[in-house]
Amino acid sequence: YFNFCLVGDLVQQARRAFQHTFGGEEPRVSVCAPGRVNLIGEHTDYNQGFVLPMALPLVTVMVGSKNPDQNVSIVTLTESVEEPRRVDFVLPQNKETISPGQPGWANYIKGVLRHYRAGPLPGFRAVVTSAVPLGGGLSSSASLEVATYTFLQQLCPDDGDKVAKAVACQQAEHTHAGVPCGIMDQFVSVLGKEGHALLIDCRSLESTLVPLKDPNLVILITNSNVRHSLTGSEYPTRRRQCEEAASILGKDSLREATLQDLQNAKDQLESVTFRRARHVIEEIERTVQAAEALKRGDYREFGKLMIASHNSLRDYYEVSCKELDELVSAALEVEGVYGSRMTGGGFGGCTVTLLEADAVNGAIQHITEQYSGSPTFYITTPSDGARVL
Ligand code: ADP
Ligand code: GAL
Repeated sequence: YFNFCLVGDLVQQARRAFQHTFGGEEPRVSVCAPGRVNLIGEHTDYNQGFVLPMALPLVTVMVGSKNPDQNVSIVTLTESVEEPRRVDFVLPQNKETISPGQPGWANYIKGVLRHYRAGPLPGFRAVVTSAVPLGGGLSSSASLEVATYTFLQQLCPDDGDKVAKAVACQQAEHTHAGVPCGIMDQFVSVLGKEGHALLIDCRSLESTLVPLKDPNLVILITNSNVRHSLTGSEYPTRRRQCEEAASILGKDSLREATLQDLQNAKDQLESVTFRRARHVIEEIERTVQAAEALKRGDYREFGKLMIASHNSLRDYYEVSCKELDELVSAALEVEGVYGSRMTGGGFGGCTVTLLEADAVNGAIQHITEQYSGSPTFYITTPSDGARVL
């Protein structure tokens, strides 16, 4: 389960493909950016709340070189994306005219070109490859955006502001991928640190590193390998429901609201809106408590909060699904498991489980036996954010 590609292997693969595709020459720049797993704080980022993700050892790599003109050529080695896997276009003088198009995967890159915070950008040729599973809720898209931004920083440096970099990548996703995501994925892909989870305050955009390197502890990710088509449409609906709740409560966001505020306004809210807001308000509180528990090394408490988070996502926010519920239930049956929950947007993708290192083999076996589908496992450790290689 450590058999995901190591960064060095990915880089070698990308460099070879670059030489093969672009006439033998070595790429001058190599960068990578990680995917992420969220430990707790789900659907709180776009409500200005707290989230507690960590960067993964699974990364997206981009290698390439500047062109003497404005031509851009990009190849992705990832096979599961929409064809063609090579795009060629001319970088326009005015980057505001860079618009999304086909193939869809190139829009994540075009979006970053559009929102890059320096210029004028030169043309370039590049090869992308990734160990982050696509569409699995581990943020392959954010890792592609952040890898692209980091690559561009080597061609045409910006001011180096990391938070602004994450925001630019989030903008790329909004305008060019059409996903109104929060800031969590891009933020932790930029600012994650080895051996730490990252507590992000999505209102102030300040973040705190929380040590997470106890050798007796394992963070196990289980990919359900399902993705229900609801993912795309339900996310913006949830966002709207939260905004509506905040506005009825007379608050800028649900971050400003207490459970008491919500109770007081119960009669004015539709029951579904009430449930959504309840999840968010309680989840923000749970996330703060979980960060405290982690600092104390109180994994039992952390695990309880994870379970409460999952139940709330299932019952109040209604973004879980049968497969994720099965995986969580199976994990919780294993001795030595502290907690388990769905992670990411929901409707498929992955669960994250916190457990004693000794229990991991048994857990993998038990989950595999109990799950109705075929799961994939990743034993992960908190890793560094985007870097030049
Ligand atoms: P995730 O949870 O993995 O971010 P998304 O559906 O939000 O799932 O994003 C996945 C999309 O990102 C892919 O369909 C593809 O368009 C793009 N993408 C991610 N990684 C790559 C890659 N290595 N090469 C090309 N496109 C990629
Ligand atoms: C992701 C999204 C994040 C966050 C998460 C739910 O898909 O990109 O910004 O909102 O869902 O916590």
